Amino acid sequence: MSPSPPAGLLTLQLRPGHPDLLDLPWHLPLSAWEGACPRWVEIPRGLSRHEVLFVSYGEVVYALKELPGSVAEREYAALRELEARALPAVTPVGLAHTRPEGTGEERGVLVTQYLQGSLPYRTLFMQPGLERYRARLVDALAVLLVRLHLGGCFWGDCSLSNSLFRRDAGELQAYLVDAETSELHPTLSDGQRRFDLDLMEENVAGGLVDLIAAGAASAAALDWRETSASVRRRYEQLWAEITREELVGAGDSFLVQERIRKLNALGFSVGEVELVATGDGAHLRMRTIVTDRNHHRHLLHNLTGLVAEEHQAQLLLNDVREWKVAATRELNRSLPLSVAAHRWLNERFLSVTQSMQGAGAPEDLCELFCQVLEHKWLMSEREKEDVGFKRAVADYRALRGLAEPVEPAPSE
Ligand SMILES: Nc1ncnc2c1ncn2[C@@H]1O[C@H](COP(=O)(O)OP(=O)(O)OP(=O)(O)O)[C@@H](O)[C@H]1O
Ligand SMILES: [Mg+2]
Repeated sequence: MSPSPPAGLLTLQLRPGHPDLLDLPWHLPLSAWEGACPRWVEIPRGLSRHEVLFVSYGEVVYALKELPGSVAEREYAALRELEARALPAVTPVGLAHTRPEGTGEERGVLVTQYLQGSLPYRTLFMQPGLERYRARLVDALAVLLVRLHLGGCFWGDCSLSNSLFRRDAGELQAYLVDAETSELHPTLSDGQRRFDLDLMEENVAGGLVDLIAAGAASAAALDWRETSASVRRRYEQLWAEITREELVGAGDSFLVQERIRKLNALGFSVGEVELVATGDGAHLRMRTIVTDRNHHRHLLHNLTGLVAEEHQAQLLLNDVREWKVAATRELNRSLPLSVAAHRWLNERFLSVTQSMQGAGAPEDLCELFCQVLEHKWLMSEREKEDVGFKRAVADYRALRGLAEPVEPAPSE
């Protein structure tokens, strides 16, 4: 005899690798789950018109959003396409159609994976200790829009509450969380991009005005008009940089490498460089096709298997290179970067992070390592000499009130 489906659940589509969610109280509307569902967890979130809640299965947390069925289907499809295009958005997990008891109404419930370590913008403004990140908000949002537009995504509702922010080595990375209005095209026209920017400017200004009205003094310190306009300016600047065409003369082939290096330094990966004769015989027109903004993330992942955010990856790769220089000097022979990276991972990264795990340390190991790197840098600045990892780790631990290490502390 096959088990009967949970009351209230009509259909459930689920992607592999997740619990079956059949123990959830589907017979109730989401608004009644608090108190009725033992898996319900409270997590700060952005403003929303729809009912949104979180449930936990051990360490893994899912976000559930209740919408009209057809709207949920559309959003689920958009999120899957965003994932296929490797664009920064929350990960879709499943889609349910329900008919909660007593309502007589069919509803859709979109399930996404909770974006670990993410901060809604209201938390960024309300919580003390996060001041340094507020200024990074403009950049993070501009970069997110550039990435989405490069990938052919018209968002249609870019706003602060429809984005999530994740700490990234002193910077922020923004993610799209609400894809209800998103459209995915092969490429976007200038008109579509402009329209998306207009919507963004209006929404961001509105989000900041709301915060000021809610009494967030730190938002009042920001000029809401200027802040939303500066997201657009930053976007235009980045877009111009990555789409700029250049003329290359016969003897200037170094310009091609220089342009690629410059884009890579901004984190953008270059898929192709197109050179077209201009007709005057002396020049070529160079156009770079930028594919994504994961240059350092890809490189770090290929070398070490670590999954990091873009700025974290940039700092970690600098440390790998520094480690390689020191090891080369010590061994008196050169090491290939891949070998150095492997040894760096075991002898430095893992030894530092494992010696510090415990209450109070960031769970994200790449973020933890970046914070130690920054701490070491600040200490070395103060003492006008390299203080080394051993001291930096001990000092960081004392400062954060972390427990003594179980493992031996890292050597230099
Ligand atoms: N996967 C997720 N991870 C973390 N937070 C999430 C996730 N999904 C939703 N949230 C939180 O819930 C909030 C509301 O989600 P969302 O914007 O999708 O709802 P909405 O009702 O469609 O919004 P709108 O009013 O803009 O239509 C988000 O701002 C975010 O804080
Ligand atoms: Mg929303």
